[in-house]
Amino acid sequence: MDELEKLKKELKDLNAEYAKIKDVPAEKRSEFGKELNAKKMAILDKIMKAEEARTDAEVAPIDITAPCAPNEDLPEFYDTLDGSRHPLTKELDNVRVIYQSMGFDVVESRQLDDEYHMFDSLNFAKEHPARDGYDTFRTEEGFIPPAHTSTMQNRVLKQFKHKLDEGKAIAVAVPGRVYRNEDVDATHEHTFYQCEGVYVSEDCTLGQMLGILRDFFEKYYGQKLNIRTQPGYFPFTEPSLEFMIEKPKSLGGKKGDFLEMLGCGMIHPNVLKMAGIDPTKYHGFAWGGGIDRLVMLKYGLKDVRYFESGNLNFLRNFR
Ligand code: DAH
Repeated sequence: MDELEKLKKELKDLNAEYAKIKDVPAEKRSEFGKELNAKKMAILDKIMKAEEARTDAEVAPIDITAPCAPNEDLPEFYDTLDGSRHPLTKELDNVRVIYQSMGFDVVESRQLDDEYHMFDSLNFAKEHPARDGYDTFRTEEGFIPPAHTSTMQNRVLKQFKHKLDEGKAIAVAVPGRVYRNEDVDATHEHTFYQCEGVYVSEDCTLGQMLGILRDFFEKYYGQKLNIRTQPGYFPFTEPSLEFMIEKPKSLGGKKGDFLEMLGCGMIHPNVLKMAGIDPTKYHGFAWGGGIDRLVMLKYGLKDVRYFESGNLNFLRNFR
C-alpha cells in the first residue's frame, strides 16, 4: 500500500469513528467531536500534500472509454449521485438568501473589469499607493480580473438610483469571485469570494450599518454574537472601519477572540457623485468581506487552499 492509500484508509477508519459519537456521554461529546475533526483535518491535509506530490507517471491513466459504472475497485469513477455542490456555492446561496430576507437586491459581480471600476470610481487618486495594496492581475489588454467586489459599487449605484427617486433606499448585495496576485498559503488564495453590501438613503447612519452587519452574521452563524470595530482606511469610505465578530464558543472561540470579517464605512461623497447621486442629499454605507473566511470559521477549516483544490476527499465532507 503506498502512502496515499494508507492515508485514505486512515481517513475511512476515522470516518467510521463518527458513528460512535452518539455513544459518548453528552458532556464529553463536544470534546470527542473536536478531536475527531482535528484528526480528520490533519489527515486531509496530508492527503492533499501527498496528492500534490504525485508525479504524472505515478497517476494511473484513466481509460475514458471504459463503462462508467460505480465500482468499488475503481475509485476514479463515481456514481453521479455521489456528486454535490461545492461548499462555497452552497454557502454563497445561504449568504444570498439572508440578504434577500433582509430586503436586499442581489447582483452578481463580474469576472473581468477595468481600471475605472477597480480604482477611479472608488476615489483612488491616480498614482496613489493604495492602488498597490490590491495586488491586481491585468490582462495584456489592460483589463482587470476584479480584486474586490467593490468594483461593482458604481454600477449598482447607477442601476438602482431610481429607487431614491421613488423615495426608497438602495440596498444591494453583490457576491462574486475575486482575484489577487498573492503568495498562496493557508490563509491566502489567488482566487476567492467576497460579498459587497451597498446601502444609500436620505438619512442612513453608521449605527444602522452595524445593526445590519450584526444581524447578517447572527443569521449566518445561527446565534447571538459580540461585535467590535476598529478604524480602517479605504479611499471609498469616510470614515472607514474594520468589523469584527467574537469567535463563538461553539466554534472553538475564547472570550475576547475577535476576528476581522470585513471592511466597511460611510460611502465617500465622491463615490456617490461619480454615480450621479447628490451627496448633499443622500448618504450611504458599504461593506465588503471574504466568503471563504466566513465558511472556514463555520466548518473549522484551517486551510483556504482546499476550496480551489478540487480534492474529492475534502468535497465529500459537504455532501
Ligand atoms: N473592498 C475592500 C477590500 O477588499 C473591502 C471594503 C471596505 C468594501 C470598505 C467596502 C467598504 O464596500 O466600504 O479590502
